[in-house]
Amino acid sequence: MQAVLVARAAFSDIVDRLRAHFEVDDNPEDRVLSKAELIARLQGKAGIFATGSERIDAEVLAACPQLRAVCNMAVGYNNIDVAACHARGIVVTNTPDVLTETTADFGFALMMAAARRIAESEHSLRRGEWTKWSFDQFTGPDVHGATLGILGMGRIGQAIARRGALGFGMPVIYHNRSRLEPAIEQALGARYVDKPTLLREADHLVLVVPYSAASHHTIGAAELAQMKPTATLTNIARGGVVDDAALAEALKQGRIAAAGLDVFEGEPKVHPGLLAVPNVVLTPHIASASIATRRAMASLAVDNLIASLGCGPNAGRPPT
Ligand code: DGY
Repeated sequence: MQAVLVARAAFSDIVDRLRAHFEVDDNPEDRVLSKAELIARLQGKAGIFATGSERIDAEVLAACPQLRAVCNMAVGYNNIDVAACHARGIVVTNTPDVLTETTADFGFALMMAAARRIAESEHSLRRGEWTKWSFDQFTGPDVHGATLGILGMGRIGQAIARRGALGFGMPVIYHNRSRLEPAIEQALGARYVDKPTLLREADHLVLVVPYSAASHHTIGAAELAQMKPTATLTNIARGGVVDDAALAEALKQGRIAAAGLDVFEGEPKVHPGLLAVPNVVLTPHIASASIATRRAMASLAVDNLIASLGCGPNAGRPPT
């Protein structure tokens, strides 16, 4: 029987399906494994059920020659050196589609919370500062009818565009590596623009680009300087797409109105400058965290591992 590592605890009833096919080494205490622990635990393992917390890089792969499948419980896979995996004939899978709508819901909520100052006003109320109603207390920019800018128009970007255009009457502009088909643009009411136009015209800018060396610090001081002072920035993509130090400074100086961040450079650490400013909503990488969606992601990762290692009903079918 082949052996696999389940690197983090994830819904034991779902992960237990692996036991019919493999010897399973799991991590019920859900500790994030160090690289040395990961390498040690992967010895003799044919596959890994991974999450964004495990870095599967060339060093790990070289130290684990029996590894044949890396199945990530995430749509993002910047934690995996895919080229190095492919060079060794290792299958890599992720969990797209099942989290699209849930993640778009959250991105929209974060954008609204930033614009309408929901977290900031709630914190103030809890501190006992609400002594009277005031005409200008916690006023912020409108969301409905404002221009929604989307950087990265994949599945999640399109789901956010639908919410903005159909639910909130927002003109949608977007920038992406490749332009959408005209029929899709028309259905979404979305207009393709270059990046400077996106930065200049968006009232609410949402980032949904995958992280790679090419997208590192896509939004830094120079880009923030091009945005409207009344604009908001929401990042549900990956830490590293935004220069967090530059964003903290821009928020402090009021160069943009507010931000909503679910992902951070070097998370779970958060840049102290972001913790120090009131005009940012900070959440701990939970955009896909509805109960049903997290279960669907775990289930798909399990199916992918079974299929990738040639077991079960999908044996021989390429994993999605
Ligand atoms: C994803 O699926 O990529 C989410 O960010 C969770 O890691």
